[in-house]
Amino acid sequence: MNDNGWVVCAYNRTTEKVDHFLENEAKGTKVVGAHSLQEMVAKLKKPRRVMMLVKAGAAVDSFIEKLIPLLDKGDIIIDGGNSEYQDTQRRCHQLAERGLFYIGSGVSGGEEGARYGPSLMPGGHREAWPYVKDIFQSICAKSNDEPCCDWVGEDGAGHYVKMVHNGIEYGDMQLICEAYHLMKSALGMDTDDMSSVFNEWNKGELDSFLIEITANILKFKDSDGEPLVEKIRDAAGQKGTGKWTAISGLDYGTPTTLIAESVFARCLSSLKDERIKASNVLEGPEGTTYNGDKKDFVENIRKALYASKIVSYAQGFMLLREAAAKFGWNLNYGGIALMWRGGCIIRSVFLGKIKEAFDKNPHLTNLLLDDFFKNAVGRCQAGWRQVVAQGVLLGIPTPALSSALSFYDGYRSAKLPANLIQAQRDYFGAHTYELAEAPGKFHHTNWTGTGGNVSASTYAV
Ligand code: 6PG
Repeated sequence: MNDNGWVVCAYNRTTEKVDHFLENEAKGTKVVGAHSLQEMVAKLKKPRRVMMLVKAGAAVDSFIEKLIPLLDKGDIIIDGGNSEYQDTQRRCHQLAERGLFYIGSGVSGGEEGARYGPSLMPGGHREAWPYVKDIFQSICAKSNDEPCCDWVGEDGAGHYVKMVHNGIEYGDMQLICEAYHLMKSALGMDTDDMSSVFNEWNKGELDSFLIEITANILKFKDSDGEPLVEKIRDAAGQKGTGKWTAISGLDYGTPTTLIAESVFARCLSSLKDERIKASNVLEGPEGTTYNGDKKDFVENIRKALYASKIVSYAQGFMLLREAAAKFGWNLNYGGIALMWRGGCIIRSVFLGKIKEAFDKNPHLTNLLLDDFFKNAVGRCQAGWRQVVAQGVLLGIPTPALSSALSFYDGYRSAKLPANLIQAQRDYFGAHTYELAEAPGKFHHTNWTGTGGNVSASTYAV
């Protein structure tokens, strides 16, 4: 904010950090410091705009409690952390009762973004937006001169969109890890070769921040000259946003399968000790080496990654649509794609294509049905199927690549075997079924001749 001409007052409850900041990073700037919340509030222009960047959860509530008595009606509190969207909904209501405004804003981009332009996804009390808009849109990343920040919607909409961003981030990262695993185990490629492949991919339709950093990570050498990545323990951490996205998918009945698989893949990876034991007991196929044409296989992995990525984003936007309907948010899907186009962790050329798809048809029900994406998946699917099949045959897990393919095949099926599920439910629990030719009317059959004719009531969860 300071770099863009705004005067900022910095506060941290560990006040030595304020002094250290003023004497170092903020030296020679217009940044002023405060050693108490009272002092900070006294230094701010009205309406006061207080932006918190603290750990999601109790710390946010605790700051809000301390700020409320110090602020006046019309002042604005902004939460820029990764808060859970339902917490943000609650805080919006709590602060509205006190005459204060609240903005829950997704902020993405890591350390680089924080300094040189993040993607910002603000939501909450719309009345506060005019007081924040110029600041946010001046500091955020730009894509073709357009700000990667706009008003998302009411209540927790900003944090919801950030949560889905993170779920997609988990999916992208898992897909890249599966590509790496296949190249390493099936093709025996070394880190330098893999780095070159990712570099090459980054010049085409997969051009993105995560592919770029993967190429850099793979070629990075430790002080002994060995690739550092191979020394890192294969147990992934997580702070919860991917899990929240998967839970939200389950809550709203949206099959966000790729994100859920990516969260579970991290969970499975973290069972490191169990996996070591199991690796000495459980058998797989003999050998994990692919004996066909190496170059073709690498290209098929690229296609599998790209097609799966399309499915992942299609699922993410399906979830946004469900949440928008549930909460009455008027989400601008093209605008969200633009917010993610630059500055954030999932930034990519691909998001420009998503924006184009929604600009062309704002009511698009599914990204897969847009001509550009339909054709892209069509072009990639033979290679994608080869890769998933080889993964299965060689015993190399590809949970995200293969669940994306299953979703694709399920979504494009006019008929699925769920008729049998309905029959089973009715058989054992009298849960009733509809007939294909007359939906809306529920029937119960006495399948065994010994069951009764009383059926359970019908409801969908
Ligand atoms: C971002 C990131 C960021 C998040 C990290 C860590 O958009 O800048 O999403 O908000 O903190 O990605 O997330 P995990 O620890 O859950 O992997």
